[in-house]
Amino acid sequence: MAYNFTGARVLITGGLGFIGSTLGRRLADLGADVMLVDSLIPEYGGNLFNIVGYQDRLKVNIADVRDEFSMDYLVQGRDFLFNLAGQNSHLDSMRDPYTDLEINCRAQLSILEACRKQDPGVKIVFTSTRQIYGKPDYLPVDERHLLHPTDVNGINKMAGEWYHILYNNVYGIRAVSLRLTNTYGPRMRVKDARQTFLGVWIKRLIGGEPIEIWGDGMQVRDFNFVDDVVEAILMCAATDDVNGHVFNLGSDDAINFRDLAELCIELNGGGSYQIIPYPPDRKPIDIGDYYADYRRIRGKLGWTPKTGLREGLARTMEYYRQHGQHYW
Ligand SMILES: NC(=O)c1ccc[n+]([C@@H]2O[C@H](COP(=O)([O-])OP(=O)(O)OC[C@H]3O[C@@H](n4cnc5c(N)ncnc54)[C@H](O)[C@@H]3O)[C@@H](O)[C@H]2O)c1
Repeated sequence: MAYNFTGARVLITGGLGFIGSTLGRRLADLGADVMLVDSLIPEYGGNLFNIVGYQDRLKVNIADVRDEFSMDYLVQGRDFLFNLAGQNSHLDSMRDPYTDLEINCRAQLSILEACRKQDPGVKIVFTSTRQIYGKPDYLPVDERHLLHPTDVNGINKMAGEWYHILYNNVYGIRAVSLRLTNTYGPRMRVKDARQTFLGVWIKRLIGGEPIEIWGDGMQVRDFNFVDDVVEAILMCAATDDVNGHVFNLGSDDAINFRDLAELCIELNGGGSYQIIPYPPDRKPIDIGDYYADYRRIRGKLGWTPKTGLREGLARTMEYYRQHGQHYW
């Protein structure tokens, strides 16, 4: 799909994070005028190293999306808002539900209010999550699947998503939501298992430590390489045909944790894994097997993931071998 972002005035919330920075770099390459907003809360994925080499082409504003006055100002005059800022840890959302509520729910509403008052012509792409489906009733999960999240994060992200669709439908603030599955690649947070187990696996393998698989290791998941997710985000931004829609992203590479661990070990040139019981606080919020049916976005926009798991993991590991010290 052809798109043109030359000269487009763009705001990316969560822009110093994993997906936001990858999107920002791509938009800068496409000639857009990009401002990244990020709070750099230490436990989250924001990292200034993510924009190394692009500091002169990306403007950065260290602000919190919960701050209504900042957001009122920052949304002004933008053609596109890529709304990616989020608290992404499922476990943290259970330990500290109010912070998750404030960021993933309340701030989403106030960002939309800022757009309604200050910039009603803006086009918004929101990143939702497969977590809103909860434990699947059937596989692959399509967009008609009931939403019954297993954790506070899933509930707040669900509300965040539907505020966007509501503002699209009621106020004509053009918005679309992508329900991302596990996304991986260079620049993801790998410090610990707070966001994705795959990140910490990569860190441990490179550091020569065994990796842990929780449960029986037979849980199946699908994975998207970050560049494919960025492509879907740009495609959705570029057409008004998708306004008010929700789309799953997913891949054809669904794999169980044991096979994924074996693949990571092979690509690392060595390593080992241990199967251990689920930590007691994780078990009740686990979603079991998940993989998405992404035919809706494929049919509408022609999006399909281009980077296979083996290639994407190899590229990711190479990135952390080179730059790991900025992420450990
Ligand atoms: N990575 C995945 O596997 C995945 C899966 C499903 C959905 N998503 C969604 O994609 C989006 C981006 O996720 P990511 O993987 O890049 O995570 P990330 O943690 O790397 O990026 C999120 C960014 O948001 C920033 N942020 C958090 N709270 C903020 C606040 N209050 N104000 C300003 N900035 C704030 C963080 O500092 C971070 O830089 C999120 O909305 C997430 O829910 C990601």
